[in-house]
Amino acid sequence: MQEPFNYLELGCGNGVSINFFASVYPQGNFVGVDFNPSHISFARAMAKEAGIANIQFIEASFGEILSDKKIDTEFDFIVLHGVYTWVSREVRKEIINIIKKLLKPGGIVYISYNTLPGWTPVMPLQRLIMEYAAQFPHRKSVKNMVEVLNKIELLEQRGFFKLNEEALKARLGKIKKQKTANIRYLVHEYMHTGWEPLYFCDVSRDMKEAKLEFICSCDLAFSFPALVNVDILQKLYQEEYSVEFKQLLMDFVFNTAFRKDIFGKGVPKITFSAAASALLKRKFMLTVPAKEIDTEFIIVPAGKLKPEAWFESLIKFIEQGPKPLNEIMQNLNINLYSTEFRALVRTLALLISQEKVATVSELPDREVQERARRLNMILKKIDDVFMVANILYLVSPFARTGVEFPVLHRQIAWEILGGRGASAEELVPYICNFVKQRKIRLEKEDNTPVQENELGNFVHEKCRDILENNLPIWKNLGIIV
Ligand SMILES: C[S@@+](CC[C@H](N)C(=O)[O-])C[C@H]1O[C@@H](n2cnc3c(N)ncnc32)[C@H](O)[C@@H]1O
Repeated sequence: MQEPFNYLELGCGNGVSINFFASVYPQGNFVGVDFNPSHISFARAMAKEAGIANIQFIEASFGEILSDKKIDTEFDFIVLHGVYTWVSREVRKEIINIIKKLLKPGGIVYISYNTLPGWTPVMPLQRLIMEYAAQFPHRKSVKNMVEVLNKIELLEQRGFFKLNEEALKARLGKIKKQKTANIRYLVHEYMHTGWEPLYFCDVSRDMKEAKLEFICSCDLAFSFPALVNVDILQKLYQEEYSVEFKQLLMDFVFNTAFRKDIFGKGVPKITFSAAASALLKRKFMLTVPAKEIDTEFIIVPAGKLKPEAWFESLIKFIEQGPKPLNEIMQNLNINLYSTEFRALVRTLALLISQEKVATVSELPDREVQERARRLNMILKKIDDVFMVANILYLVSPFARTGVEFPVLHRQIAWEILGGRGASAEELVPYICNFVKQRKIRLEKEDNTPVQENELGNFVHEKCRDILENNLPIWKNLGIIV
């Protein structure tokens, strides 16, 4: 995207993702809204320190945005992540009214939300957590969450959950892990009074009120129903049902609990040749080493999808760095108007959906690369101060998006960016220190924990492997220069 555009995030929180995008799209004008003053001041400080000037943060509720006319711009993009099904119905109405008022014709909305039927079996657990929490002071807090979960675990041990036992036990098992790893997420997920998972068709009807039509799900597997190996769905798909109803059918097949959807306001349908010519302008590359790519896609609930004959050649080719689509086609001997071309696009789309492949257009100028580097170092500072270990993404100026980094990979990338060297020998002492300080539980391949006397060798081997396999990819992504 080269033309200027306006981008609004409703409920931007600490502003991590909006700052990512603003740092790598200098032609965009970004606005983040949140009513939490500490989030807004955090987000502003991050932008200031990274030298991101094309961003503005507004501390206001959605209601105030409407009534006080705090924004007089129209937007090409309005995004909401982790907001819509965590607020009351009245607030959802406000969101729809903001979209109605502020989205340009031709504009796009990204919205994520908790979805039915996936949440159905565990909804009673959320309710129990909420009602338990209401019995204590500091209702919506980390401390209260821990107390409530301890009490619920006791109930479980005493055989309390008989109805829906299997689903509730499975969910409690997951919650116990998150209790140590990410308690703040649990507060966000389970302690909102307005929390209400929705069916796709309800969200789609809300969007229609703002004159929006469904375009696609960001889970690109949803765009390829032919891959879902369920006979009944295949038959239903051939019926003359609406696009919306077909998505709902997919949600029943996948038992979807979370959706990320794109809606558009008067966005014309794209033709095959327009889509192909846009794709031909892009380059594709791996975001992880080839050895981490599953050679068989998992398509729930159909099991594994057999990869095409050229799959491994494709992976090897794009592991070398960003490759234009036409070069990939030449390399694999695929013609534009063939069914193989569609299979290639589908394969790339599924890999993008799994965050294993990124697309790159033209490379940004040095200033953008420098802003991204500064932002990545600020994330380290935040991580050092808060020790939250939940900033899982670093920004790639070439892919112009966040790329997921597991904890050791991220620390190694930060040490390299901070100039501590780029050999395993130089990095090992810093990484060992980090592991000890943070009490990170490392596991060997056989899933047994790494003992203290094994730490040095384990970390050395890890660093060597990451430097050999991941570092070239980080360079391709422009994260390490
Ligand atoms: C879970 S956070 C999501 C943050 C961010 N979008 C992300 O993905 O990391 C939801 C955010 O919405 C904000 N929020 C909730 N209701 C709001 C309202 N009525 N007006 C403005 N902000 C609101 C909260 O303060 C919170 O920061």
